[in-house]
Amino acid sequence: MPINPRRALIVFFSLRVTNMVFSEDLFNKSSPEYKALEQRFLELLVPYLQSNLSHFENLEILNFRNGSIVVNSRMKFGRPVARGVTTTVYLILEDFCNTAYQTMNLAIDKYSLDVESDQADPCKFQACNEYAECKVNKWSGEAECVCNAGYFSVDGLPCQSICELQTDFCLNDGKCDIIPGQGAICCRVGENWWYRGEHCEEYVSEPLVVGIAIASVAGFLFVASGVLFF
Ligand SMILES: *[C@@H]1O[C@H](CO)[C@@H](O)[C@H](O)[C@H]1NC(C)=O
Ligand SMILES: *[C@@H]1O[C@H](CO)[C@@H](O)[C@H](O)[C@H]1NC(C)=O
Ligand SMILES: *[C@@H]1O[C@H](CO)[C@@H](O)[C@H](O)[C@H]1NC(C)=O
Repeated sequence: MPINPRRALIVFFSLRVTNMVFSEDLFNKSSPEYKALEQRFLELLVPYLQSNLSHFENLEILNFRNGSIVVNSRMKFGRPVARGVTTTVYLILEDFCNTAYQTMNLAIDKYSLDVESDQADPCKFQACNEYAECKVNKWSGEAECVCNAGYFSVDGLPCQSICELQTDFCLNDGKCDIIPGQGAICCRVGENWWYRGEHCEEYVSEPLVVGIAIASVAGFLFVASGVLFF
């Protein structure tokens, strides 16, 4: 495994807690629910990892995801790192799962344990939803979810359609729709009228359009006949 000697070793891991229920607030990194659960996992895991892994530097909870509760984390090791560190981490986490159940009544699905090193795809642990694309920053190596056009993330929550986030996005009863790759559009169309503009603010009616068309055809004929006669 080629290792960049200047960089600390990063190991990602993911575990699934089966006896806890996920709530929407756990998406929100500034919510008290998120902070409390983050604190709880750090307090449980850090001393455990510190006493079992040499050169362990820190642990960061990346996010919580639904699926009971999935805890995605990243830990950093200083040099020198023992060979096969991912295997060691795996064994220690497995041991932790047993202890967690006996002492803290925390049921962790051992088969959900996923440990990957440096070369892992950081996007996997970011777990972006279907309305986002994961982008990796070339310099920091950190991954983030970037919402598709027409979708937005509020307080780190999964990307949501602007039509849902902002119910008054369309004026004049316009129907809000997301056009893939372009963003939100709204517009209501009637028999011989429609609205136009980004928020459907402009009324267009067919008689008016027909009038303009007739006027321009008449104007053209007038100019054309002028050319023929002179
Ligand atoms: C979590 O997933 C379960 C099962 O798919 C679903 O019923 C529940 O609504 C989800 N919870 C949230 C907060 O998204
Ligand atoms: C996220 O949590 C903060 C703090 O509780 C709250 O002020 C904010 O409204 C929440 N955001 C969303 C989108 O729920
Ligand atoms: C890890 O450390 C804890 C104490 O913090 C200890 O009880 C446990 O046996 C250790 N596990 C391994 C695999 O060494």
